[in-house]
Formats: sequence, structure tokens, C-alpha cells
Amino acid sequence: MAPRIAVLASGGGTNLQAIVDYFSELSSPSGTIQLVASNKSSAGALTRARNAGIAAESFDATDDGTALSTLLARWSIDLVVLAGYLKRIPSLVIDKYRGRIINIHPGLLPDFGGAGMYGQRVHAAVLASGATTTGLTVHFVDNEYDHGPVIAQWRLRVKIDDTTESLADRVLSAEHIVYPRVVEMVASLTGAGLAADF
Ligand code: GRF
Repeated sequence: MAPRIAVLASGGGTNLQAIVDYFSELSSPSGTIQLVASNKSSAGALTRARNAGIAAESFDATDDGTALSTLLARWSIDLVVLAGYLKRIPSLVIDKYRGRIINIHPGLLPDFGGAGMYGQRVHAAVLASGATTTGLTVHFVDNEYDHGPVIAQWRLRVKIDDTTESLADRVLSAEHIVYPRVVEMVASLTGAGLAADF
């Protein structure tokens, strides 16, 4: 059966939009986006969800994970997709969804990841390091920030005149193409009863 997907987002939700748009173009998507949830009631992602006719809810992310766990259970969610969700996922939720929570990071993990490494900070660190390539990583989520098993990476060249802004733009554009397709693949595997075991 097609897994029921929840997308968690804290911000503007351009990746959420890319996933919604991509899934809406598929004649038979491997999963259905049932819920968009955020720790911030003002998150642009919630507005995007409502505009797309998808249920949108905010929840208290300051507890031990009970609120999120209850929300996911209420919607019978099978697969959790993080798209710019900035809070750590509590162990309570990880234990219930191990191998069924994925995240996208705007860098080539394990480099330039971890607590505090998000947004422009990642691209600034890439430029400061002199790295000649950057990219994006989609990975399973475990108890540490940006740490679980890698599912997919996409590499981009750092150009000589790149700024943090130009790098951020190029990586984000690539995210919008790669992430929906990886979500579709993971949903297909989840639907086939295969969950990553780590
Ligand atoms: C993306 O760069 C993603 O890699 C990171 O958070 C950002 C979310 O952007 N995890 P948006 O809210 O999808 O526009």
C-alpha cells in the first residue's frame, strides 16, 4: 500500500513545494502526502500546504517527542520527510520510525554538517574551506544531527566567483530536482515493505 507521508518543515518550504508539485504530476505516486507539520505556526510551509489542499498543523516541539509522535499516529503516518525542519527529532519518534525518516542537507555529508550547520552557514563554511565541490545529501535520520545513513548525494562544482548566495541558490535548485525523486524512491521501497535497518 502507498505509504502515508508527513512532511516536517520549519521554514518557507520550497522543498515541500517541489515534492508536492512533483507528486501531483505522477499518475501513480508511490506515496501520498497526508500532512505537513511544523514546530512554527507561522511557517510558510504550512501556508503552501493549505494552498495545495494538504492538512497543515503545528505542534509543540519542546516536549520529549510525545506531541509529534501523537500527531504522526493520529494521521497513521508511515514515512516522515524532513524539509528544512530545524529541530532534532526526539528518540521517542526515532525509535518508532527508524529507517522511515529522511532529511535533506545542503552539503556533502559528513562534511559541513552537525548542530548549527544549516542555511548560509553551510555554504560559507564550504567557501572558507576552499573545497572545489559541494552538493546535497539525502539521508536517514538518527539521534544525531545530519548523521544517519546516506541515501543519495548530488555533487556540484564550486566556481571561482561563487558567493554564499550563489552557492545557496545552485544547491537549493538541485535540491528541488533531487529530493522529490528520492522521496518517491524511498516511498516506493517503504511501500514494498523494505525499511532501512541501522
Ligand atoms: C534546504 O536547504 C534544506 O537542505 C535544508 O533546509 C533548507 C530548506 O529550505 N535542510 P526550504 O524551506 O525547503 O526552502
